[in-house]
Amino acid sequence: MRTTVIQLKAMKQKGEKIAMLTAYDYMTAKIVDNAGVPLILVGDSLGMVILGYESTIPVTMDEMIHHIKAVVRGSKNAMVIADLPFMSYHISKEQALTNAARIIQEGGAQAVKVEGGTSVADKIREIVDCGIPVMSHIGLTPQSVNQLGGYKIQGKDLDTARKLLDDAKAIEQAGAFAVVLETVPAALAAFISQSIDIPTIGIGAGAGCDGQVQVISDILGLFTDFVPKHTKQYAQVAEVMSGAISDYYNEVKSGAFPTEAQSFAMDESIIDELKKK
Ligand code: KIV
Repeated sequence: MRTTVIQLKAMKQKGEKIAMLTAYDYMTAKIVDNAGVPLILVGDSLGMVILGYESTIPVTMDEMIHHIKAVVRGSKNAMVIADLPFMSYHISKEQALTNAARIIQEGGAQAVKVEGGTSVADKIREIVDCGIPVMSHIGLTPQSVNQLGGYKIQGKDLDTARKLLDDAKAIEQAGAFAVVLETVPAALAAFISQSIDIPTIGIGAGAGCDGQVQVISDILGLFTDFVPKHTKQYAQVAEVMSGAISDYYNEVKSGAFPTEAQSFAMDESIIDELKKK
């Protein structure tokens, strides 16, 4: 049985911290799921870390569905939450519902994530009313990077801090089961977490959130284009991979790989027979 929204609410009530991690493929989802992480996010960050786009903006519904299916196949216990990509839920209620349904029905995820607070509260309500759990995402919302003027900390002054608090309350009111707080000051994130009953999942939002989310390639030291301040590298996987790949390359060139251990034997008299013809 996968993690449920009811369990997440109970975790907040008990003060049990919630871990969420992104995954984009079968192999990684399996490792994350086996590690016991209760929430897997198929984030539209896949556009940057997997597909090599400069931002999350070009990510399409079809790209999301392709990766969601792989993550669902690779996991058994985690709730799989998937991003509705840029402009896939803003145009109309019909568009938001159609795309949320695709993520659940075609992709096999259990919940969707949308970026925005008060401005998308009506869409959150419509999706939730159809029986689809919605996680929201406020603070630094990467799909709005052009409007925000870059990947900057949000909510540092009174007006923007109040707006984030109002957004969090609007999201809860609209029926979302959790909210991601990205790159907001720790004190504000802690205050928001105490002000609403749904779990807050922070990324660059300090220890006062009810849970934390990270991009898997960041914590593994696998994505090396840049290292966000909010990340802790628990391994240097890019270095390990690079070393292994160089060893393979050099051994193929030198003839050291493969050896008998990686080869298959046969009755060599067959080769003698072949030579006769
Ligand atoms: O797309 C993503 O991976 C995200 C997380 C950073 C929260 O939205």
